[in-house]
Amino acid sequence: MIHPPQRYIVTSALPYANGPLHIGHLTGAYLSADIYVRMLRMLDNDVAFICGSDEHGAAITIRALKENSTPQAIIDKYHTLFESTFRKAGISFDIYHRTSSALHHETAQEFFRTLYQKEEFLEEESLQYFDKDAGKFLADRYIKGTCPKCSNPDAYGDQCERCGSSLSPLELINPVSTITGTKPELRKTKHWYLPLNKYETWLREWIEGGTVDGAEQHDPSDWKTHVIGQCKSWLDGGLQPRAMTRDLEWGVDVPQEIPGAAGKKLYVWMDAPIGYISATKQWASDQGKNWKDYWQSEDSQLVHFIGKDNIVFHCLIFPSILKAHGDYNLPVNVPANQFLNLEEKKISTSRNWAIWVDEFLTDNPDQTDALRYVLTKNMPEQKDAEFTWKGYQSDVNSDLVGNLANFVQRVMVLTHKYYDGQVPVFDEDEPIVGARGNDEASWHEVEMMDLFDRMWTVQDAICKYEFRNGLKAVLDIASAGNQILQFNEPWKAIKEEPEAVAVVINLCNQYVAALSVAMHPFMPAASARLRTLLALEPLTEQGAWVETMDALANGELLLTDEHQLHEAEHLFARIEDEWVNAQIRKLHDMSKEESTATSVSVKSEAPVKPAISYDDFAKLDIRTARIVEAEKVPKADKLLKLTLEVNGASRTVVSGIAEHYTPEELPGKNVIILANLEPRKIRGVQSEGMILMAESGDGKLHFVQAANDDSGMSIG
Ligand code: MF3
Ligand code: ZN
Repeated sequence: MIHPPQRYIVTSALPYANGPLHIGHLTGAYLSADIYVRMLRMLDNDVAFICGSDEHGAAITIRALKENSTPQAIIDKYHTLFESTFRKAGISFDIYHRTSSALHHETAQEFFRTLYQKEEFLEEESLQYFDKDAGKFLADRYIKGTCPKCSNPDAYGDQCERCGSSLSPLELINPVSTITGTKPELRKTKHWYLPLNKYETWLREWIEGGTVDGAEQHDPSDWKTHVIGQCKSWLDGGLQPRAMTRDLEWGVDVPQEIPGAAGKKLYVWMDAPIGYISATKQWASDQGKNWKDYWQSEDSQLVHFIGKDNIVFHCLIFPSILKAHGDYNLPVNVPANQFLNLEEKKISTSRNWAIWVDEFLTDNPDQTDALRYVLTKNMPEQKDAEFTWKGYQSDVNSDLVGNLANFVQRVMVLTHKYYDGQVPVFDEDEPIVGARGNDEASWHEVEMMDLFDRMWTVQDAICKYEFRNGLKAVLDIASAGNQILQFNEPWKAIKEEPEAVAVVINLCNQYVAALSVAMHPFMPAASARLRTLLALEPLTEQGAWVETMDALANGELLLTDEHQLHEAEHLFARIEDEWVNAQIRKLHDMSKEESTATSVSVKSEAPVKPAISYDDFAKLDIRTARIVEAEKVPKADKLLKLTLEVNGASRTVVSGIAEHYTPEELPGKNVIILANLEPRKIRGVQSEGMILMAESGDGKLHFVQAANDDSGMSIG
């Protein structure tokens, strides 16, 4: 399993730049990859860890259309957000690139050109839906209709989200264009297809047998069963030629010299994975390296980290593209994760049933590693897994606080108490009552060999993509350490057997030092904090594991005799009930499913509004007011002119609530207003402020009120 140091290219799925990342994304394709990559580096491999934003595809244009924005504005916003989210989460990409870059467009076009010149594509005309009013062909996502399988009336042209079937737009019953709401018509259009059906034989040999053209490539038993299972079921169902181009406005142009290329863009699933290559090119040129060493040389290994919804693209389609090109390596593994559920329900962006990574880490910057811990402990490696807030609390409190941090704390406190914080010198031959040891080796030696084995277990598990087991093996080191303390009771033995206690405390310090290394791939920030407490140099990731294992194998100490520790401190904080309950409440309050009233600020995408400073907030003059009079604004169906009493003075506000309230029912109502909004003339009436309303799921507006009904109270 453990190879001599070599070259790796490790990729994480490029996230679509059209919405924020939740914990399911994080654990699925980023945290898993980060743990793996950190271990590879510690084993002194030459690794390029690649990611970037996926900035094309219909989802982005649809979002722009909906928000009255532009694709460029959307991708810029999310690209920036992703960069900072990953930084906060400690994901150590070597480069975070983007598919809107010129380098990527050139790289993807060059790739397409090569396949075209090698005559790998089938050129075919087909019928596709065209929206006459919009004057364009419709991407699959732009067409809605009734699902032929489950009769869901809101199925998309590519997929039904109710029954999960993947569809083609031609299968939809009563198709409608989501751009104009009209019925689209079928028109002929030409596209270039990848004949996946032609590749079925070699794909099957590769997936099932690990061989390509008879040459051994990888051991299929290293691949996860659910990944192989999904591939087989695609292969058993028979592969169809798949169009690699689309009639779109947003994306990578088909090279213009190709006849018929005008107006055609690359299919996003051809363009995006090539993003791994263009990102590597950028990184290599920044670092003075040769990107081909990573993608095309025999001694390099390609590993893709993805979620299970991406399996077909990374195990069948992209490998077909790479093989058709001819110069590239195929992935040696695609350790896809399954899905993470949240409080027993599917995570859902549209229903806002999610924990947003950026928001969580902004609110709780000191819980990065606690989150990494819990997400790794519950990683959906083989099957879907569950995240619950109560589980988060108990995982942190019992494992991190109760076991790991507690062990560190005990060892450091005892070392300070008995030895002024210096790792005690001990006598090799000192017998330890009832403890292991044999004729050849002292007890200390035997326990150190045990530590070596435990470290090996961590390493081996990570190299096999078994991150849950690897993490457990780290915690096992702490449990073993706690047991050593419990069994030997140095606090009792210190009077009668001080020599034996010195051996025990020395050993426990070695365990703590080893932990600072073993924790690193999973919890890099906590590992760094621990090393500071131990007064050890920060880890130089590259080669650190090898160094530690060599030291242990040679019988060297990780903390030398009389090494001076800093004062003990807690590594992790307990999670209190109150905090957990607040998280649960927040999840339910924000969810579109459960809440009836969603406040204005929560309504649109609260989690991605950037944080504002307190000073910005303090600029808002929000206060209570009473409605004295209300009347319709002539020729404006939605507007009412309201006369308010605020601090005994009267002011006029024009408000768009005429469809929700009649003028008669308003006088006497208490409301909350933004009093210092710039005055503005609306339909000829000067409006001085704005009334705050909350919108419920059915679209109805409700007044926001203070529990006390005085007018003129200021809020803040
Ligand atoms: N953007 C895709 C998703 O979020 C993943 C793209 S992975 C790549 O599902 F390989 F295409 F880049
Ligand atoms: Zn369906």
